[in-house]
Amino acid sequence: MMRLQGKSALITGAARGIGLAFARAYVAEGARVALADIDIARARRAAQDIGDAAIAVEMDVTRQQSIDDAVARTAAAFGRIDILINNAAVFTAAPIVEITREDFARTFDINVAGALFTLQAVARHMIAAGVKGRIINMASQAGRRGEPLVAVYCATKAAVISLTQSAGLDLIRHGINVNAISPGVVDGEHWDGVDAFFAKYEGKAPGQKKAEVGAAVPFGRMGVAEDLTGMAVFLASDEARYVVAQTYNVDGGQWMS
Ligand SMILES: NC(=O)c1ccc[n+]([C@@H]2O[C@H](COP(=O)([O-])OP(=O)(O)OC[C@H]3O[C@@H](n4cnc5c(N)ncnc54)[C@H](O)[C@@H]3O)[C@@H](O)[C@H]2O)c1
Repeated sequence: MMRLQGKSALITGAARGIGLAFARAYVAEGARVALADIDIARARRAAQDIGDAAIAVEMDVTRQQSIDDAVARTAAAFGRIDILINNAAVFTAAPIVEITREDFARTFDINVAGALFTLQAVARHMIAAGVKGRIINMASQAGRRGEPLVAVYCATKAAVISLTQSAGLDLIRHGINVNAISPGVVDGEHWDGVDAFFAKYEGKAPGQKKAEVGAAVPFGRMGVAEDLTGMAVFLASDEARYVVAQTYNVDGGQWMS
């Protein structure tokens, strides 16, 4: 049985990585999916590759008009939005004494304000349309505990966990379940960027940090995006109807909370 038959989803940052894996998994479960991304060329290629059940939508989560347009386009294409995955985010790293206001503001704008105001726009749509929807935010193990070189990114993901709790408690009276997924270390282009930051600040050879973090995961390896799709499908399905304001670790045993 397909668990998301007839549902439609908006996934931000879905041109690649985890968001794209979620889009594929949702389509395999019977959903139609809007791949929303600032990299529209790549989102279009990905949507084409998935087929008729996918569309690409240009979206910059730091611009309110872009958020509103992406929500309107998705709702118009599918009739309604049942599921939002707030997945778009950027990584940054620097020692405390080198953090700049510009990088702090940019990272919070994408990872926190972007997630909140996309959630708000989709919640408004769901309430107006009478949709008992699902919203899934992408947190991180980085939001569970600070890290010496990763203060700003860690703080954005702690904020996502907090927003998941507040929005979850606020929106459940409208029948909208808000929850989050907290991955550990997931291989892909995102982590290539993380690896480059550690090469710069810790003097590691390219690929060294990646190998170290993978070896330290209790499961025995880094995650891949497909390790997370089961949780993303579950949280969007009817089986998760009584799950409210939670953040689930899907990280190979990295974190317990
Ligand atoms: N990869 C990991 O190890 C890991 C671990 C924990 C949490 N996460 C979280 O999971 C999510 C997905 O991670 P990923 O590894 O697939 O990342 P990724 O960098 O591969 O993909 C992020 C996507 O977001 C898009 N994006 C960036 N800025 C945007 C903007 N302003 N508006 C719209 N789209 C924008 C990018 O174009 C890209 O397609 C993120 O929230 C990330 O923080 C990832």
